[in-house]
Amino acid sequence: MARILVTRRLPEGGLDPLAGHDLVGPKPDDTAYSADELRALAPTVDAIVCLLTDTIDAALLAAGAAGSLRVVANVAVGYNNIDVDAARWHGVVVTNTPGVLDETTADTAFLLILAAARLAHTAEADLRAARWPGWGINQYLGVDVHGATLGIVGYGRIGRAVARRATGFDMTVLHHSRSDTGEPGYVADLDDLLARADIVTLHTPLTAEARHLIDARRLALMRPTAVLVITARGPVVDEAALADALHAGTIFAAGIDVFEAEPVVHPRLSSAPRTVLLPHIGSASIATRLRMATLAAEAAAAVLRGERPSNVVAELA
Ligand code: DGY
Repeated sequence: MARILVTRRLPEGGLDPLAGHDLVGPKPDDTAYSADELRALAPTVDAIVCLLTDTIDAALLAAGAAGSLRVVANVAVGYNNIDVDAARWHGVVVTNTPGVLDETTADTAFLLILAAARLAHTAEADLRAARWPGWGINQYLGVDVHGATLGIVGYGRIGRAVARRATGFDMTVLHHSRSDTGEPGYVADLDDLLARADIVTLHTPLTAEARHLIDARRLALMRPTAVLVITARGPVVDEAALADALHAGTIFAAGIDVFEAEPVVHPRLSSAPRTVLLPHIGSASIATRLRMATLAAEAAAAVLRGERPSNVVAELA
């Protein structure tokens, strides 16, 4: 029987694969462990099942590896909260949850595409606040999604799931990724894609190179009628530059689910016009969150049995 730290309360049934093990945590009130608390617990456990809001840094991994920590299972597909190089160095396996959240996250991207392009948020806010004077021919005029050119940045599983949805809207789909996919619609130059797309949706993981991939210069390449949608990770976009572009009207609208310093939202983004903001709910469906928890728990259990799950992102080289 292994000892496993579960940092936060997970969906009911998500920890079933760990039955028979000694589970530590979460805190009774389900608040986050501090960095110091995590570091103190790390050497006392064999596995950690954590969320993207837990920072698993080099000091924690060193402390854990000095004890018996063997695996960190992140309940997320993104793992920028984990120092993967340090994990590799210390021989701690890191796993994520690919595959189970693609469709739900693509649904969220499409929700934001539609809501931002058609100004749904602004119109709804006016209606609720009794600011709607009645139907008007010039009110709430958005841009069409059907027939538009969609530029997908990052063409992994989620990007492709968005592309499948776009075909139902008769969209022309372009995509950019670091390596040539060899598929129709591939655009090698990101700048070129940004200039050609009516709607741009970001699906690239947060790596060092992807930080501020969309900066002021690239925002300036986008069309004044363009819509930008972000469901990847906040730091992929320079939020201050995006807020400037929205306030200045150099792009038309934005739909944003992830932020640079969550849960804080850049104040100029909060006040930006034609902007839909969601609190990082990309994968938030009941079924998907359970699948994510289960996959993470299965991965931790497999490593503890001495097996190698398919969703390993870092292991001893
Ligand atoms: C992930 O899994 O990385 C998502 O951001 C969670 O919604």
